[in-house]
Amino acid sequence: MKKFLIAGNWKMHKTTAEAVSFAEEIKAKNLENAEDVAVLAPFTQLSELGKALAGSGIKFGAQNVHFEPSGAFTGEISVPMLEEIGVDYCIVGHSERREYFGETDKTVNLKLKALIAAGITPILCVGESLEVREAQGEQTFVASQLIADFEAMPISDVAKVVIAYEPIWAIGTGKTATPDQAEEMCAFIRGVMGGMYSNEVADQMLILYGGSMKPSNAADLLSKPDINGGLIGGASLKADDLAAIADAANALK
Ligand code: 13P
Repeated sequence: MKKFLIAGNWKMHKTTAEAVSFAEEIKAKNLENAEDVAVLAPFTQLSELGKALAGSGIKFGAQNVHFEPSGAFTGEISVPMLEEIGVDYCIVGHSERREYFGETDKTVNLKLKALIAAGITPILCVGESLEVREAQGEQTFVASQLIADFEAMPISDVAKVVIAYEPIWAIGTGKTATPDQAEEMCAFIRGVMGGMYSNEVADQMLILYGGSMKPSNAADLLSKPDINGGLIGGASLKADDLAAIADAANALK
């Protein structure tokens, strides 16, 4: 049976009150595949969101973390702080963090290792810009991200990372990669991981697509063999839309 993860990245949206009412709404839908669904929320909402989702099977997590366990890092949040709240997932290396907040492959690598050590599943984002795609450099670019992001990671930890292929040109633009373009890159990513580690490990990995995924295009994307789910921005803000995408994945199991 194909494994799926349908993860909503709320980015900088929703207050805690709005997050809790979203949780009530999605819980009421009694999703058959609740365990395959996660919401990634801003830090201030995590505690209440975790309580509101308790018992539903739906997972939750953060959108970023610092790699040091503690220290003089004003404004940052550590892995032990996330652990205390009981988060399941944490996004690492989203293109918005790489572009606006100086995230590098080096910090991504340190964050992946710190999260894995704490038993929190990282969702690692990779993906090329429009400029790189137009120069047909997407495979070289994404392979170089993967090589740097997984540097010195032992093979026993590799399948603990979820990878999300998010072409920057498809994020928030309404311009979705075609199912064939998304599949080509997710299969390519699996191949790179197979080459770096082993095909057995690569086959166990969850590889998601992200970029303007919505109820109307989810089934076509999710039916592709190397796409194990979605990292969904805009369409994850409404419980109805996230539930519809989760249903599309469930129908393909
Ligand atoms: P959109 O679904 O809004 O395009 O965002 C995708 C994304 O960046 C998820 O992390």
